[in-house]
Order: sequence, then C-alpha cells, then structure tokens
Amino acid sequence: MLKGFYNSSELDFTIPENKEAMLKAFEQVDKEKGNDYPLIIGGERIMTEEKIFSFSPSTKEQLGAVSSCSQELADRAIRTAHNAFLSWRTTPVEERICCVRRLVELMKQNRFLLDAWSIEESGKNWGEADGELCEALDFFNSYIMHMRELDKGLELMDTDEAVKCIYIPIGVGVAVPPWNFPLSLLAGMVVSAVITGNTIVCKPSSDTPIVAYKFIELCEKAGFPAGVINFIPGSGSVIGDYIVKHPLTRFVNFTGSKEVGLRISRMASEVSEGQKWIKRVVAEMGGKNAIIVDSSADLKRAAAGIANSAFSFQGQKCSACSRAVVLSDVYDAFVEEIAACAKDLQAHQGSGREDLPMGPVINKSAFDRISHYIEIARNEGTIVCGGGFDDSKGFYIEPTVVRDVAKNAVIAKEEIFGPVLAVIRAESFDEALEIANNTEYGLTGSVYTEDRAHIQKAKEEFHVGNLYFNRKSTGAVVLQHPFGGFNMSGTDAKTGTRDYLTNFLNLKSICEDL
Ligand code: SER
Repeated sequence: MLKGFYNSSELDFTIPENKEAMLKAFEQVDKEKGNDYPLIIGGERIMTEEKIFSFSPSTKEQLGAVSSCSQELADRAIRTAHNAFLSWRTTPVEERICCVRRLVELMKQNRFLLDAWSIEESGKNWGEADGELCEALDFFNSYIMHMRELDKGLELMDTDEAVKCIYIPIGVGVAVPPWNFPLSLLAGMVVSAVITGNTIVCKPSSDTPIVAYKFIELCEKAGFPAGVINFIPGSGSVIGDYIVKHPLTRFVNFTGSKEVGLRISRMASEVSEGQKWIKRVVAEMGGKNAIIVDSSADLKRAAAGIANSAFSFQGQKCSACSRAVVLSDVYDAFVEEIAACAKDLQAHQGSGREDLPMGPVINKSAFDRISHYIEIARNEGTIVCGGGFDDSKGFYIEPTVVRDVAKNAVIAKEEIFGPVLAVIRAESFDEALEIANNTEYGLTGSVYTEDRAHIQKAKEEFHVGNLYFNRKSTGAVVLQHPFGGFNMSGTDAKTGTRDYLTNFLNLKSICEDL
C-alpha cells in the first residue's frame, strides 16, 4: 500500500464562503471576457493575426481570442524546447520537483478562477470542474513521489564493477490534450513530461484554450525556465501533423478521438529526415463502455450509478457508459428506474454557471453529431426518456434513454460521446459479458451484481482497462483507480502511476571496471 499520498478533496459549494468565492471568480471571468491571448514560446509572448475564438457552450457567447500558431512558429517552439532540453535534462530532480511544488500552491491559490474558466469554456458544472482541479493536484503529487523513487535508478546485483542503471529524460514532447478535461489532462501531460526532465510544446484544444493559457501562466510563475513549457494553440489541420512529424519531437502524448489517435500513431511511426529516434506515442482514445446489470443487482443503485456514468458532464467522458446490458428478468424494472433518473436530470439542465447536474455539450459540431445519433436511435429502439435537443441558446441535449436496442445496432457500436444510453437485453450473464466485450474499444466497464461467481467471471473476462463493481464507470481517482484503456481505447498508459512516467524516460545502464 502506498503511504504518504493523499487525494485532494473537492470543495463543498454548499459552504457559503466557497459559493461566494466562486461567484467572485465568475465576476473576474466577466471582466476578462474578450481578452486576446498570445502563444508562449521560450517565455516570449507572441500575438498572431490568425485567431482561435473560444465560445461558451452554455450561451454561445464569445469568451476571448487566442493566437493561432503557424508551422513556422511551431518549428520555433520545438527548436526552443530542444535548446531548453539541453540544460533542463540535467537540472537536479529536486529542483524540478520544487517547480512542481510551487505549481501545486499556485493552483490552490487560483483554484476558483481556474474552476470558473473551465466551467465557462467547457460547460461543466462546479463539482465537475473542481474535481478536475483535484485530479490535477493528485497527478502532480503522485508524480513528485514517483520521480523521487525513479531518480534512485534500478536496483542491481552487487559486483566487482561499479554499476548503475539510471532513468534519463528523452527529449521534446508534444502534448495534445482534450477539451473535456481541459485542466487536469493538460496539466498531467505537461507536468509528467517536465518532472521527468523533458521539455514540451503544448497544443491545447481549440474549444478550451483560455483555461489552458491560465494554467501555463501559473507554470511560468512556478519557476519553470523559459522554453521548458511552450504554449502553441493552433488548428489541427495547420500544425497537428507538423508537430507530430517534426524531426526534433521525441514523443507525443495525446487524448482525444480514435481517428486522431490512430493518425498520430501512423505519422509518428514515419521517420522524418534528420530524426534519430523511434517516437513514442501515448494515446488515450475513445470508449463504448458497458455496464452490466444482473438479476441479483440492487436496481435502484444500478440505475443511479448508470445515470451518473451516462449523463454526468453530458456523457462527454471517455469513461462514460453508453450501453447498459441488462438481464432479461430485470430488464423492464431496470428501464423504469433508469428512465426515472434521466427524467429527474432532464428537469435540472442549465448553463455551467447555474451548477445543475446537466449542462450543454461542447459545441455545434458535437450537438449535430449527437442529435443525428438520436435520430438513428428512433429507428433502433424506443426512446423512453429524452430525445429532445435545442441549440437556440446553447448546445443542450436531453439525457436520452433508448430501450430494446439490438447488440449490433449503430448506437450500440459507435461512440456517440453525448448523453445517449442504449439499453440492451441479455438472456444470461455469459451473453451479457459477450455483448459488453463486443466492441473495438476497451476502456471502462462495470457490473452491478451481488453474485460472487459473476464477479469472478467478469474479473477474468470483461476486457477493459478499468473494471468496476457496483459503482459508476466514471470518476477514476488518482492512485486508487489508475486509468487507461485496452484495444482501440489507447495505449493503456495508466495516468498517475510510476509506469506512466517511464513512457518519458530511457534507462541508461552504466558500468565502470574498478
Ligand atoms: N478519468 C476520467 C474518469 O474516470 C475520464 O477521463 O471519468
């Protein structure tokens, strides 16, 4: 068991001071609205003509403009990171750790403002935003602990020679984080790279570039030397392939769709002129996650857990449940329970600021994609709750439950990444497992059951990176539920762990004959 590590606690917004501080942070956000944000390369702030505009998914209001990086500037950022690497790689681990510790303090000091920007740009509610901030702090504290251990190197045999085997950093990394965890995943990607002695160019999501900028500013204040962390928002079609293929980039850390992840993997495997290494790719991609409910399950508990997994943050988590696989004898009773949960959520939908259980989906293209799947759902089953969508004020989609969906239906196979749950019938527990595994993905899964034999069978056969019992499939906690998926869900890089950091390190074996 790990000792000396504690997970951060989420703020309780029922406490008046916390609520007050959050409302003040929104006032600050309002004052900052419409600002222009630069790229940061080698500590230099660079404004470009070309802009990315950030919009609130809750209201469609424009929140600000961020400079958009060209290939020329991306090249400059990578070369700057390469130069910074030459000194950062030999900076003592304790010095690097000091920067991360200062960053932890700065994040705590700026907690409400970071939460507020995350809420504004992503449309998540207060608890989801603060949970993310906690996850970021947990990543930092876990990486500090692991780096100290890794710095000791490998334990070796005692011999006549002086031998050691040490971990060394590998070079310039590219971080491409997603919009759905715009703070924690970006922060985790940046800090895991630099605490291991690498340098990084970070291209945030174009949907959430302001909260990303706020974080990078704190990194500067924490004392990371110029050039160690570079910030280059930009369009994927302009700089995406370019930074992955650049001969000086050594690794790519990506979270996002399967299509983009596979493209990165393909690009990174091609050797560019002047490139001296095989690039490493850490990719966290999609999911088509299932939760099984068997005949012994507590149906109310199962429905509450599945509703949370399917609809929290509007189903826009790669860990979200989009398939409930339910044993035939409890199927109708379960559908009633889950429909009741979804109806309750439907009555509590609003903007991120209103802090309701359900908010908007991220943007117009997500809204169009999800509403298209709801139209498909009408022909593939019966919608027992939800099915409505409205983009007149923001991008709102009702929590939607579809019953009598065949296991090979489109909505049972394709990742929707929105609040749509397909309820599929199974005749036996074996069939339920077969349906759950009938996907190219393998990220999360859960089983609601009181049957020990079923628990054992699922442990052996449910092929997912994160398997839960009698619990929702979302909300992995750092160093309690190391997170990462199998198959088309990604490279199974379990964030927060010591293994994760070794993605960004080489082992150098040194021997001196005495
Ligand atoms: N780690 C998140 C969760 O478990 C998803 O990225 O929900």
